[in-house]
Amino acid sequence: MTQPKTVRELFQLKGQRPQVWITAYDFTQAELAASAAVDAILVGDSLGMTMLGYSTTLPVTVEDMVYHSRVVRRAARDTVLIVDLPFLSYRDPTTALLSAGRIVQEAAADAVKLEGGARTVPVVEHLVAEGIPVIGHLGLTPQSVHRMGGYRVQARTADTIQTLVADASQLAAAGISALVLEGIPDRVAAYVTQSVAVPTIGIGAGSATDGQVLVFHDCVGLSARTPKFVTPFAQAREALLEGIRKYREAVIGGAFPDAQHSYHVSDQEWDRFVHRQPS
Ligand code: KIV
Repeated sequence: MTQPKTVRELFQLKGQRPQVWITAYDFTQAELAASAAVDAILVGDSLGMTMLGYSTTLPVTVEDMVYHSRVVRRAARDTVLIVDLPFLSYRDPTTALLSAGRIVQEAAADAVKLEGGARTVPVVEHLVAEGIPVIGHLGLTPQSVHRMGGYRVQARTADTIQTLVADASQLAAAGISALVLEGIPDRVAAYVTQSVAVPTIGIGAGSATDGQVLVFHDCVGLSARTPKFVTPFAQAREALLEGIRKYREAVIGGAFPDAQHSYHVSDQEWDRFVHRQPS
């Protein structure tokens, strides 16, 4: 199974095989993701919650995205790197180009991702015309948490399904390279997947999309709480907690460090040192 090196190669996977994306925000996570040969790494603005301790993605800045993306790129030089444009950083084409330009120039990102439908079309067209690949994101769009009234599944009525389908087709016509579908019913995701030529990447959108993306912490079981749509594929939180608890007990109980895990000086050098001390 060949690993894509470019956004164009990701695009060409549609209809060939499912593609696998994961988020990463630091060197260790990115090194692990790249070693596991994922198809793409997303530096999502979910880093606001997973790494920075905010309760939403809204406070995340372009500066935050550049900082984390540069770190991720250093660990994953050959993996397709997609970076989120944060809240308010793409509200018009000029602002979007400045934000995306920084991310592409300073973090060597392959593409940027932005949330929203028809209203973002002028932005998508402008970025694509300037040579920056864009990934769309529809459905549960976390930057609109206040408008949605919480992190709720979207497109559950005929009207909202119709709007989402129309948004997907307008974004595809505007030149996006892929479309993330988050928090929507599986049938809706399947319909969109069949109706657009770009790959759809699902998160909480069922199994019929062209690929899946998971937040790193959810994927490996690092989150304290797991969303309904996630299967943790490891129990990292439990394993790490156990390790830290054992370390604590070993230090308090005097078992760590033992002689085997200490550095030593020869008796001869120690005697020489001791005899130099004034008595
Ligand atoms: O910010 C993020 O991590 C994302 C994924 C959930 C798709 O946008």
